[in-house]
Amino acid sequence: MLKGKHIVLGITGGIAAYKIPYLIRLLVREGADVRVIMTAAARDFVTPLTLATLSKHDVFFHPFNMETGTWNSHVELGQWADLMLFAPLTANTMGKMAHGIADNFLVTAYLSAKCPVMLAPSMDLDMFQHPSTQKNLEILKSFGNKIIDAQAGELASGLSGPGRMEEPEKLFEIIHDFFFQSQELKGKKILVTAGPTHEKIDPVRFLGNHSSGLMGFSLANEAVNRGGNVTLITGPVGNHEIHPTIKRIDVTSATEMLQACRKQISKADILIMAAAVADYTIKNPLSGKLKKRSDLITLELSPTTDILHELKKLKKEDQCFIGFALETDNEMENAKEKLKSKSLDLIVLNSLNEKGAGFGAPTNKVTILTKNGKTIKGNLKSKKEVASDILSAILEYIKSN
Ligand code: CTP
Repeated sequence: MLKGKHIVLGITGGIAAYKIPYLIRLLVREGADVRVIMTAAARDFVTPLTLATLSKHDVFFHPFNMETGTWNSHVELGQWADLMLFAPLTANTMGKMAHGIADNFLVTAYLSAKCPVMLAPSMDLDMFQHPSTQKNLEILKSFGNKIIDAQAGELASGLSGPGRMEEPEKLFEIIHDFFFQSQELKGKKILVTAGPTHEKIDPVRFLGNHSSGLMGFSLANEAVNRGGNVTLITGPVGNHEIHPTIKRIDVTSATEMLQACRKQISKADILIMAAAVADYTIKNPLSGKLKKRSDLITLELSPTTDILHELKKLKKEDQCFIGFALETDNEMENAKEKLKSKSLDLIVLNSLNEKGAGFGAPTNKVTILTKNGKTIKGNLKSKKEVASDILSAILEYIKSN
């Protein structure tokens, strides 16, 4: 099933390296073409002979093959790979990758990667929790690398906590899903909106909402993971992981978001309207700062244009539109009404009554309703997992229509 897939496995000097031969066996058995790179320290934990025998290819250590005098091109390896996985990844190599310290073959290959990169950190509890490790992880995430979270459990030192490399069977599953899922949105253009909008009161104040944008960013990243060509229109948000191939358009107000959506919509096959667009804007924003006064003041608000209502006028027959509904009361009823009135194919219902769901939280719990009457109820999950569920529901809907 992985026939023709080129996978580079980078192994660094952690005790979990002893588990990698089993991962190679699983990958090769499924037809994958695997090349292994090791750091010098990794050789203390697993032998190159084992890895070469299982992968059926020589293992890379140096830019030069000392015996034959030939040059091992990290650039070629970077272009050859469909996926690179670095597992186990030590704090040391993680630091080098985060800061571009290319003093070994493994890091030069990483810096030459033209494909998605996955990192599976593995180290002792204290090292894992150290701010420098966490900071490096954040940096590597911000470059678009996929982090395979270290698992909690018993560590080689005898300590217990997060730091264990994910098990080889699970790593295999993640790689398999990556290749399997990446085909589904190939050739499709996906337009995603995310975050809040800010409506200007005066030069220093705005009317906004608590949307963090994480749900929209997770949807955009997940769509790329499945092979989609993604444009993300986002309101003002903090730092989120974003895949480097995503075309990002930053906007501030509801009007700017409407204009950007209008421009992009004709190119999209799928629209996912995850932004929390303001329903009202300030009627007459002030050009100078509103001065403090002791009496009551009134801000006049005028309604914004409903973007989905506008876009439905431009909707082509083969386009699929997905909206969100954020509700506190009569949730299902209201979501069904929005599905209909906004001419949506699917609507994702967030309930503000659910703990850990909705705005600001890293997790979400949603119910997906489709135009053809299907209801998919989800559990409380990370927004990344929820994004994956939403995309699966969209793909299933498209297939069945
Ligand atoms: N939406 C939009 N334009 C707006 C407001 C909302 O396109 N001006 C979109 C949102 O992105 C979301 C859907 O409409 O996909 C529903 O948004 P929601 O805030 O739940 O509902 P509203 O239509 O704003 O209605 P209400 O606030 O009364 O529930």
